[in-house]
Formats: sequence, C-alpha cells, structure tokens
Amino acid sequence: MQKFYHIVTYGCQMNVHESEKIAGILRELGYEYCEEAENSDIVVFNTCCIRENAENHAFGNIGMFKKLKAKNRNMIIAVGGCLTQQMGKADNVKSKFPFVDIIFGTHNLHKLKDYILMKEKQKKAVISIEEFDGTIVEGEKPYRTSYPNAWVNIAYGCNNFCSYCIVPYVRGRERSRKSENIISEVENLISEGYKEITLLGQNVNSYGNGTQDISFPRLLEKIACLDGNFRLRFMTSHPKDFSEELAEVMAKYPKICHSLHLPVQSGSDTVLSRMNRKYTVADYLNKLKILRKYIPDCAVTTDIIVGFPGETDDDFNATVDLVKKADFSSAFTFVYSKREGTVASKMPDQISEHISKRRIMELIEVVNAQTRCQSEKYVGKKIKILCEGFDSKKKTYLGRDEYGRMGYFESDKDEVGNFVDILVEKANGVSLIGKKV
Ligand code: SAH
Ligand code: SF4
Ligand code: F3S
Repeated sequence: MQKFYHIVTYGCQMNVHESEKIAGILRELGYEYCEEAENSDIVVFNTCCIRENAENHAFGNIGMFKKLKAKNRNMIIAVGGCLTQQMGKADNVKSKFPFVDIIFGTHNLHKLKDYILMKEKQKKAVISIEEFDGTIVEGEKPYRTSYPNAWVNIAYGCNNFCSYCIVPYVRGRERSRKSENIISEVENLISEGYKEITLLGQNVNSYGNGTQDISFPRLLEKIACLDGNFRLRFMTSHPKDFSEELAEVMAKYPKICHSLHLPVQSGSDTVLSRMNRKYTVADYLNKLKILRKYIPDCAVTTDIIVGFPGETDDDFNATVDLVKKADFSSAFTFVYSKREGTVASKMPDQISEHISKRRIMELIEVVNAQTRCQSEKYVGKKIKILCEGFDSKKKTYLGRDEYGRMGYFESDKDEVGNFVDILVEKANGVSLIGKKV
C-alpha cells in the first residue's frame, strides 16, 4: 500500500533545502508527498530556533498533532532541525509531546532513514541527538521542489558567534565542502535544466577558511564560467569578510546576479561591537562603496535587529540613519530575541517589549517607504524575470529579476523556467506588475 509523507519547515533557506534532503530520504523509503498532513503516514517537523517565535510556532504546530495521532496510531511523527539540536530541547519536546516518535538534530539528519526503519519495527520512540563531529556528508539526493531554482550548500555551520545568535551552537563549527563536489553538483543541476543556482552558507565569504584549495571569489568564478543558461546567487555574506575581489568577480561575470544580501544588524558602532560583528558602520558603508564602484546597479538587501540589550534611542536612530544612507532595496527587520546560552542573553539592560515594538514599527515604515520608492523607479522599464510559478489567485505568472524584485505577468503558455522580458506597468510595494514584451 502506498505510504505518504508531509514535511513542515520553519526557518531559513538552509532549512528549506534540508527539507528537500529529508524528502529525498523519505522517497527512497517509498513514501510519496501528500499535501494534507492529516492524511500522511509520516509527518516531519524541520524546526528553527533563531527567535523565540520560531520555537513557539513549531511547538504550537506539533501540539496540534496530539489528536491526529490519537486517531491514527500508525502515523509517525518526527521532529528534527535546529530546535531539537539545542541543549536540552530534545528532552523538552519528548516530555511536552510524548506522542512524538522520532527526535533527531541537525548533525544526524542523514541518518533519518535508519531512524524511520527502526521506528517501523519497534514501539519505543527513537531519540538521537548527536554532538557535532565535523563530518560533511556527500552524495545526498535531495528531492528538489523549487524548479527552476536550486540550492547548493557550499559550507555548513558558523564560527562567528555573534553574541545574539544561536546558530553556531546548533549548527556546529564552519566547514566547507570540497570545491569539486560543489562544482559537479552545480553541473548536474544545469544539465537537468535548473536556471538559478543559489550557493548557501551562513557566511559564504569565508568559504574554505584555509581548509580548501580555493577561496569564495574563485569558487564563484569557476561556477560562473560553466556553460549553460542559468544565473547565480549566493547567501549569506558577512560584511567583515566581503572583499573587493568578490565585487570584481561579481561585476565580471554576467551570470552572477547584481544582488547581495549583506546583513548589517545595527547602525550603531557600540551595538555592533557588543553584537561581536567585527566591523563598524564606516567599514560597512565603505564595503558598499566598493561594491557599487564595481556594480553601480547592485541591489543590496540586509537584516536588522532592533532592541538588542542596551540599545539606546540614539543607537536606534543611528540604525534609521544608516538605512536612509545605504539605499537598501529591502530589509528584513527583527526584534531581538533572547536565546539561552548566547553571550547577549546574559547582558544587562534587556530592552522592554514595548520599546522594541515601537522601534521596529518606525523602522519598518522607513524601510517600506524606501522599497516603494525604489519599485516606482522601475515603472516604464524592461526587466528580465526568471519565471518561478503561477499564482492561481492572481491568475498571473511570477518570478524575480536579477535584483530579486518579484514581477507578475500574464501569458497564455506555461512560462515556468523561462527567462521572460516584461515591461513594468505598475509597482505595488515590493512587487512589479508588467506585460510580456
Ligand atoms: N548567517 C546569516 C543568517 C543568520 S540568521 C548571517 O549572519 O546573516 C538570519 C538573521 O536573523 C540574522 O541576520 C539576524 O538579523 C537575525 N537573528 C539572528 N539571531 C537573532 C536573535 N537572537 N534575535 C533576533 N534576530 C536574530
Ligand atoms: Fe549567526 Fe552571526 Fe553566524 Fe550569522 S554570522 S549565523 S548571525 S553567528
Ligand atoms: Fe536557519 Fe533557524 Fe537554524 S534560521 S540555521 S533554521 S536556527
């Protein structure tokens, strides 16, 4: 009898891609995808713990499965990802949700197949959280569901220990894949027809970090020189490691998108220093200057945290000023969330929720006004979109240009996977609406 799986994913692109790896494992075991979790034989929660609300979200959703599990005793419920990898959290999940069958972490995702086989044979739950041992697993077979886009890990983990961040604790130390493995994965994807390749790492700029034969700019260059009709992106870049050499490579090869995600986090030097970011506002602006010297049209996006411990009104105003100066094409804004075990969680002067909320509202307004203003400049211009899908509600195709702008257009044929030129007729917030030309 056919068995079905459903995966619930939280968190970043890295996790989205890891869910594709989980799907690959489940399909190898004979499971087929099912849109409704309640009708599935196995449900996997791939969790995130970057902020408290990500954690609460996952906990809330897992809790809802108690009833389903009571109705269908054979349903396997598995919980993995960054949340369970956190110290003590696996026990927490187990005691809160005794009906969960499998608990695994980020370091043993590749063993999920064994855990499922074990669980199919025994009554007892399988709980296995492994400590980080530096292994890089090759030969994984992700089941990709994001055609024409494909994600490729180039490095795992993080060594930066920004004082607010849990990632180094749940993903282990930074380690890079061998360049030949990365390149051959990309070559295969291109030959399978993928049109956009995004290289993934917590800090792609430090790829290799002395352990590999080539640096990130050289790796990017090698991939940009591969034959085929595709474009290339990468994320995330840490400002401290962003180099002129990288800007040069980005400018030189047309396949590399003129788009860079460069999280700044704060516009105040004192806050940046307490965040352990290892650059100043002046350093950051200087990097942007270098980038725009090589690529004047480069779209820059960023991440910003408000309400970091000790953030004063002046610090916050400095962030608003920076946003105005930097001309970001969009920014992800977050309220600081205290993560147990991090250095910042022990800092005095944690900011009250009410101040953080006021600050984030103000910041969002500034960011949105800038984004709208940038979008309006597109009206009347022609852009090239890689069509990613069909929006059945709006009855239009959608895709992004190389700057990451979402564009919508109508067509009477299937355009998914095509590069399509559209003339922008209207801007709607971050989205552009146009007609095919
Ligand atoms: N490695 C990437 C992404 C890290 S997570 C980087 O260095 O940029 C994505 C974003 O989440 C971060 O850039 C940061 O803005 C935000 N973030 C991380 N920890 C956070 C916390 N404790 N509270 C609020 N936002 C956080
Ligand atoms: Fe977290 Fe900093 Fe590493 Fe990014 S670079 S994952 S924010 S510790
Ligand atoms: Fe990503 Fe969340 Fe883990 S942002 S690395 S899934 S903590």
